[in-house]
Amino acid sequence: MQIHWYPGHMHKAQRKIREVFHQVDVMIEVLDARLPLSSRNTLLAEIRGTKPCLMVLNKTDLADSSVTKKWLAWYNAQEGVTAYATHNGERKRLQDIPQLCRDMVPRRGIPGKPVRALIAGIPNVGKSTLINSLAGRKVAHTGNEPAVTKNQQKVDAGKYFQLLDTPGIMQPSPGDVLAGYRLATSGAIRSTAMEYEEVALFAIDYLLQRYRGALAKRYGISEDSDDAAQILPAIAERRGCIRDGELDLHKASEIVLNEFRAGKLGRITLEEPQRELPYRLLPPEP
Ligand code: G4P
Repeated sequence: MQIHWYPGHMHKAQRKIREVFHQVDVMIEVLDARLPLSSRNTLLAEIRGTKPCLMVLNKTDLADSSVTKKWLAWYNAQEGVTAYATHNGERKRLQDIPQLCRDMVPRRGIPGKPVRALIAGIPNVGKSTLINSLAGRKVAHTGNEPAVTKNQQKVDAGKYFQLLDTPGIMQPSPGDVLAGYRLATSGAIRSTAMEYEEVALFAIDYLLQRYRGALAKRYGISEDSDDAAQILPAIAERRGCIRDGELDLHKASEIVLNEFRAGKLGRITLEEPQRELPYRLLPPEP
Protein backbone atom coordinates (compact mmCIF):
# COMPACT_ATOMS: atom_id res chain seq x y z
CA MET A 1 0.00 0.00 0.00
CA GLN A 2 1.72 3.13 -1.19
CA ILE A 3 0.89 6.71 -0.32
CA HIS A 4 0.31 8.34 -3.71
CA TRP A 5 2.42 11.41 -3.36
CA TYR A 6 2.19 14.28 -5.77
CA PRO A 7 5.35 16.40 -5.59
CA GLY A 8 3.73 19.13 -7.74
CA HIS A 9 0.87 19.60 -5.25
CA MET A 10 3.27 19.58 -2.34
CA HIS A 11 5.57 22.18 -3.82
CA LYS A 12 2.61 24.41 -4.56
CA ALA A 13 1.19 24.06 -1.04
CA GLN A 14 4.59 24.57 0.50
CA ARG A 15 5.26 27.68 -1.58
CA LYS A 16 1.88 29.15 -0.65
CA ILE A 17 2.40 28.53 3.06
CA ARG A 18 5.86 30.07 2.94
CA GLU A 19 4.37 33.13 1.20
CA VAL A 20 1.98 33.83 4.08
CA PHE A 21 4.04 32.45 6.92
CA HIS A 22 5.78 35.73 7.76
CA GLN A 23 2.34 36.93 8.95
CA VAL A 24 1.88 33.94 11.26
CA ASP A 25 2.70 33.82 14.98
CA VAL A 26 1.68 30.23 15.75
CA MET A 27 1.16 27.17 13.60
CA ILE A 28 -1.79 25.01 14.65
CA GLU A 29 -1.04 21.61 13.22
CA VAL A 30 -4.04 19.31 13.27
CA LEU A 31 -3.43 15.57 13.51
CA ASP A 32 -5.73 12.58 13.71
CA ALA A 33 -5.45 11.24 17.28
CA ARG A 34 -5.86 7.70 15.92
CA LEU A 35 -2.60 8.04 13.98
CA PRO A 36 -0.69 10.99 15.38
CA LEU A 37 2.52 10.18 13.53
CA SER A 38 1.30 8.96 10.16
CA SER A 39 -1.13 11.89 9.85
CA ARG A 40 1.71 14.40 10.10
CA ASN A 41 3.40 16.16 7.29
CA THR A 42 6.96 16.69 8.41
CA LEU A 43 7.40 19.59 5.97
CA LEU A 44 5.24 21.68 8.27
CA ALA A 45 7.81 21.43 11.06
CA GLU A 46 10.45 22.51 8.61
CA ILE A 47 8.40 25.48 7.43
CA ARG A 48 7.56 26.67 10.93
CA GLY A 49 11.21 26.63 12.01
CA THR A 50 11.45 28.18 15.48
CA LYS A 51 7.89 29.56 15.56
CA PRO A 52 5.70 27.89 18.19
CA CYS A 53 3.29 25.13 17.31
CA LEU A 54 0.05 24.01 18.88
CA MET A 55 -0.26 20.35 17.94
CA VAL A 56 -3.95 19.48 18.04
CA LEU A 57 -4.64 15.76 18.31
CA ASN A 58 -8.16 15.81 16.94
CA LYS A 59 -10.92 13.18 16.78
CA THR A 60 -10.14 11.92 20.27
CA ASP A 61 -13.73 10.64 20.41
CA LEU A 62 -12.52 7.86 18.08
CA ALA A 63 -9.10 7.24 19.66
CA ASP A 64 -7.96 5.10 22.58
CA SER A 65 -7.66 7.61 25.43
CA SER A 66 -4.78 5.79 27.17
CA VAL A 67 -2.72 5.97 23.97
CA THR A 68 -3.69 9.62 23.36
CA LYS A 69 -2.15 10.44 26.76
CA LYS A 70 1.12 8.89 25.65
CA TRP A 71 1.13 10.86 22.41
CA LEU A 72 0.37 14.09 24.29
CA ALA A 73 3.36 13.48 26.55
CA TRP A 74 5.55 12.72 23.56
CA TYR A 75 4.54 15.82 21.61
CA ASN A 76 4.74 18.06 24.68
CA ALA A 77 8.37 17.03 25.06
CA GLN A 78 9.18 18.45 21.60
CA GLU A 79 10.89 21.83 21.35
CA GLY A 80 8.43 24.68 20.74
CA VAL A 81 5.39 22.41 20.79
CA THR A 82 2.30 22.47 23.02
CA ALA A 83 0.07 19.47 22.45
CA TYR A 84 -3.67 19.50 22.94
CA ALA A 85 -6.19 16.71 22.49
CA THR A 86 -9.79 17.33 21.54
CA HIS A 87 -12.69 16.45 19.27
CA ASN A 88 -15.48 18.32 17.57
CA GLY A 89 -17.99 17.54 20.32
CA GLU A 90 -15.99 19.56 22.84
CA ARG A 91 -17.12 22.99 21.71
CA LYS A 92 -16.51 24.60 25.08
CA ARG A 93 -13.04 23.16 25.55
CA LEU A 94 -12.06 24.29 22.06
CA GLN A 95 -12.22 27.81 23.39
CA ASP A 96 -8.95 27.05 25.26
CA ILE A 97 -7.15 27.17 21.95
CA PRO A 98 -6.90 30.97 21.55
CA GLN A 99 -5.52 31.27 25.08
CA LEU A 100 -3.01 28.46 24.53
CA CYS A 101 -1.78 30.28 21.44
CA ARG A 102 -1.58 33.58 23.30
CA ASP A 103 0.51 31.90 26.00
CA MET A 104 2.99 30.90 23.31
CA VAL A 105 3.40 34.45 21.97
CA PRO A 106 2.97 36.78 24.94
CA ARG A 107 3.85 39.90 22.94
CA ARG A 108 0.69 39.40 20.87
CA GLY A 109 -2.96 38.75 21.73
CA ILE A 110 -3.41 42.34 22.89
CA PRO A 111 -5.47 45.20 21.46
CA GLY A 112 -4.27 45.97 17.93
CA LYS A 113 -2.07 42.88 17.84
CA PRO A 114 -4.11 39.70 17.47
CA VAL A 115 -2.37 36.34 17.60
CA ARG A 116 -2.30 35.11 14.01
CA ALA A 117 -2.51 31.34 13.76
CA LEU A 118 -2.24 29.20 10.64
CA ILE A 119 -4.25 25.98 10.72
CA ALA A 120 -2.49 23.26 8.79
CA GLY A 121 -2.57 19.51 8.37
CA ILE A 122 -3.34 16.79 5.88
CA PRO A 123 -6.88 16.42 4.48
CA ASN A 124 -9.63 14.94 6.61
CA VAL A 125 -8.07 15.51 10.05
CA GLY A 126 -10.77 18.05 10.92
CA LYS A 127 -9.22 21.43 10.07
CA SER A 128 -12.37 22.97 8.58
CA THR A 129 -14.51 21.71 11.44
CA LEU A 130 -12.05 23.25 13.90
CA ILE A 131 -11.96 26.57 12.03
CA ASN A 132 -15.75 26.73 12.03
CA SER A 133 -15.92 25.94 15.75
CA LEU A 134 -13.32 28.55 16.63
CA ALA A 135 -14.88 31.17 14.36
CA GLY A 136 -18.34 30.38 15.72
CA ARG A 137 -19.73 30.32 12.18
CA LYS A 138 -19.33 28.38 8.97
CA VAL A 139 -16.35 29.78 7.13
CA ALA A 140 -14.81 26.56 5.79
CA HIS A 141 -16.34 23.62 3.97
CA THR A 142 -16.18 20.30 5.80
CA GLY A 143 -16.19 16.87 4.22
CA ASN A 144 -13.99 15.69 1.45
CA GLU A 145 -13.16 19.03 -0.04
CA PRO A 146 -9.83 20.61 0.69
CA ALA A 147 -10.09 22.93 3.66
CA VAL A 148 -9.68 26.25 1.96
CA THR A 149 -11.64 29.25 3.10
CA LYS A 150 -11.98 30.37 -0.46
CA ASN A 151 -12.38 34.12 -0.34
CA GLN A 152 -11.38 34.59 3.21
CA GLN A 153 -7.72 34.59 3.99
CA LYS A 154 -8.12 35.66 7.60
CA VAL A 155 -10.93 34.89 10.00
CA ASP A 156 -11.43 36.68 13.31
CA ALA A 157 -12.07 34.14 16.02
CA GLY A 158 -12.69 35.79 19.33
CA LYS A 159 -10.89 38.68 20.88
CA TYR A 160 -7.35 39.22 19.64
CA PHE A 161 -7.20 35.94 17.70
CA GLN A 162 -7.09 35.48 13.94
CA LEU A 163 -7.03 32.30 11.89
CA LEU A 164 -5.49 31.66 8.52
CA ASP A 165 -6.36 28.48 6.71
CA THR A 166 -3.77 26.26 5.03
CA PRO A 167 -3.36 27.63 1.53
CA GLY A 168 -3.23 24.48 -0.60
CA ILE A 169 -3.43 20.80 0.12
CA MET A 170 -0.83 19.21 2.36
CA GLN A 171 -0.57 15.53 1.65
CA PRO A 172 0.71 13.10 4.26
CA SER A 173 4.48 12.73 4.36
CA PRO A 174 5.72 10.01 2.04
CA GLY A 175 5.94 7.45 4.82
CA ASP A 176 6.52 3.74 5.00
CA VAL A 177 4.06 1.06 3.94
CA LEU A 178 2.52 0.85 7.41
CA ALA A 179 1.79 4.58 7.43
CA GLY A 180 -0.02 4.10 4.10
CA TYR A 181 -2.20 1.36 5.53
CA ARG A 182 -3.00 3.36 8.64
CA LEU A 183 -3.93 6.42 6.61
CA ALA A 184 -6.11 4.30 4.34
CA THR A 185 -7.77 2.60 7.34
CA SER A 186 -8.64 5.99 8.83
CA GLY A 187 -10.01 7.23 5.49
CA ALA A 188 -7.39 9.97 5.13
CA ILE A 189 -6.19 8.58 1.82
CA ARG A 190 -8.33 6.92 -0.78
CA SER A 191 -7.89 3.30 -1.71
CA THR A 192 -8.67 1.81 -5.07
CA ALA A 193 -11.25 -0.99 -5.22
CA MET A 194 -8.42 -3.54 -5.37
CA GLU A 195 -6.71 -2.09 -2.34
CA TYR A 196 -9.88 -1.97 -0.26
CA GLU A 197 -9.68 -5.62 0.68
CA GLU A 198 -5.98 -5.30 1.44
CA VAL A 199 -6.65 -2.37 3.77
CA ALA A 200 -9.48 -4.23 5.52
CA LEU A 201 -7.18 -7.22 6.06
CA PHE A 202 -4.57 -4.87 7.52
CA ALA A 203 -7.19 -3.37 9.85
CA ILE A 204 -8.44 -6.79 10.97
CA ASP A 205 -4.91 -7.99 11.55
CA TYR A 206 -4.14 -4.92 13.67
CA LEU A 207 -7.36 -5.34 15.63
CA LEU A 208 -6.47 -8.96 16.29
CA GLN A 209 -3.18 -7.88 17.79
CA ARG A 210 -4.36 -4.89 19.84
CA TYR A 211 -8.15 -4.85 20.14
CA ARG A 212 -9.17 -8.47 19.72
CA GLY A 213 -12.11 -8.18 22.12
CA ALA A 214 -13.62 -5.28 20.14
CA LEU A 215 -13.35 -7.21 16.88
CA ALA A 216 -14.85 -10.38 18.37
CA LYS A 217 -17.71 -8.44 19.95
CA ARG A 218 -18.64 -6.48 16.84
CA TYR A 219 -18.56 -9.37 14.38
CA GLY A 220 -19.40 -12.29 16.62
CA ILE A 221 -16.23 -14.14 15.78
CA SER A 222 -14.42 -16.42 18.20
CA GLU A 223 -11.77 -14.76 20.38
CA ASP A 224 -9.46 -17.58 19.28
CA SER A 225 -9.54 -16.63 15.59
CA ASP A 226 -6.23 -15.21 14.56
CA ASP A 227 -6.17 -15.17 10.79
CA ALA A 228 -7.49 -12.04 9.09
CA ALA A 229 -7.83 -13.95 5.80
CA GLN A 230 -10.39 -16.26 7.44
CA ILE A 231 -12.10 -13.60 9.49
CA LEU A 232 -13.00 -11.40 6.49
CA PRO A 233 -15.06 -14.19 4.79
CA ALA A 234 -16.65 -14.96 8.16
CA ILE A 235 -17.74 -11.31 8.43
CA ALA A 236 -19.05 -11.44 4.83
CA GLU A 237 -21.14 -14.48 5.72
CA ARG A 238 -22.52 -12.99 8.94
CA ARG A 239 -23.44 -9.73 7.26
CA GLY A 240 -24.98 -11.42 4.22
CA CYS A 241 -22.44 -10.05 1.72
CA ILE A 242 -23.18 -12.32 -1.23
CA ARG A 243 -22.82 -11.48 -4.90
CA ASP A 244 -23.59 -13.88 -7.74
CA GLY A 245 -23.78 -16.69 -5.19
CA GLU A 246 -20.29 -15.96 -3.82
CA LEU A 247 -19.11 -14.20 -0.67
CA ASP A 248 -18.55 -10.55 -1.52
CA LEU A 249 -15.28 -9.71 0.26
CA HIS A 250 -15.21 -6.21 -1.17
CA LYS A 251 -18.55 -5.43 0.47
CA ALA A 252 -17.37 -6.97 3.75
CA SER A 253 -14.20 -4.84 3.55
CA GLU A 254 -16.29 -1.72 3.10
CA ILE A 255 -18.36 -2.65 6.15
CA VAL A 256 -15.30 -3.19 8.34
CA LEU A 257 -13.61 0.05 7.25
CA ASN A 258 -16.73 2.19 7.43
CA GLU A 259 -17.56 0.84 10.86
CA PHE A 260 -14.01 1.40 12.08
CA ARG A 261 -14.10 5.00 10.77
CA ALA A 262 -17.45 5.66 12.42
CA GLY A 263 -16.12 4.40 15.77
CA LYS A 264 -18.48 1.43 15.87
CA LEU A 265 -15.71 -0.90 17.01
CA GLY A 266 -14.92 1.41 19.90
CA ARG A 267 -12.09 3.85 20.44
CA ILE A 268 -9.04 2.58 18.63
CA THR A 269 -5.61 4.06 17.96
CA LEU A 270 -3.53 2.66 15.13
CA GLU A 271 -0.07 3.56 16.39
CA GLU A 272 1.70 4.05 19.70
CA PRO A 273 4.78 6.11 20.48
CA GLN A 274 6.87 3.36 22.04
CA ARG A 275 6.28 1.07 19.07
CA GLU A 276 6.90 3.68 16.38
CA LEU A 277 9.55 6.01 17.52
CA PRO A 278 12.84 4.15 17.76
CA TYR A 279 13.15 4.25 14.01
CA ARG A 280 10.84 7.09 13.11
CA LEU A 281 12.32 9.73 15.41
CA LEU A 282 14.89 10.41 12.77
CA PRO A 283 14.61 13.91 11.35
CA PRO A 284 12.99 14.24 7.92
CA GLU A 285 15.30 14.06 4.97
CA PRO A 286 16.15 17.45 3.45
P1 G4P B 1 -10.27 18.77 6.80
O1 G4P B 1 -10.73 20.20 6.75
O2 G4P B 1 -9.02 18.60 7.58
O3 G4P B 1 -10.20 18.11 5.47
O4 G4P B 1 -11.38 17.96 7.64
P2 G4P B 1 -12.93 18.30 7.90
O5 G4P B 1 -13.08 19.37 8.92
O6 G4P B 1 -13.60 18.50 6.59
O7 G4P B 1 -13.40 16.93 8.56
C1 G4P B 1 -13.33 15.70 7.86
C2 G4P B 1 -14.38 14.76 8.43
O8 G4P B 1 -14.07 14.49 9.80
C3 G4P B 1 -15.79 15.37 8.44
O9 G4P B 1 -16.71 14.30 8.28
C4 G4P B 1 -15.92 15.90 9.85
O10 G4P B 1 -17.27 16.00 10.27
C5 G4P B 1 -15.18 14.84 10.64
N1 G4P B 1 -14.63 15.34 11.90
C6 G4P B 1 -13.98 16.50 12.14
N2 G4P B 1 -13.60 16.59 13.42
C7 G4P B 1 -14.02 15.45 14.01
C8 G4P B 1 -13.91 14.93 15.36
O11 G4P B 1 -13.35 15.54 16.27
N3 G4P B 1 -14.45 13.69 15.56
C9 G4P B 1 -15.06 12.97 14.58
N4 G4P B 1 -15.55 11.78 14.89
N5 G4P B 1 -15.19 13.43 13.31
C10 G4P B 1 -14.67 14.65 13.04
P3 G4P B 1 -17.39 13.98 6.90
O12 G4P B 1 -18.35 12.89 7.16
O13 G4P B 1 -16.34 13.77 5.86
O14 G4P B 1 -18.09 15.33 6.53
P4 G4P B 1 -19.41 16.00 7.15
O15 G4P B 1 -20.52 15.20 6.54
O16 G4P B 1 -19.34 15.86 8.64
O17 G4P B 1 -19.38 17.42 6.67
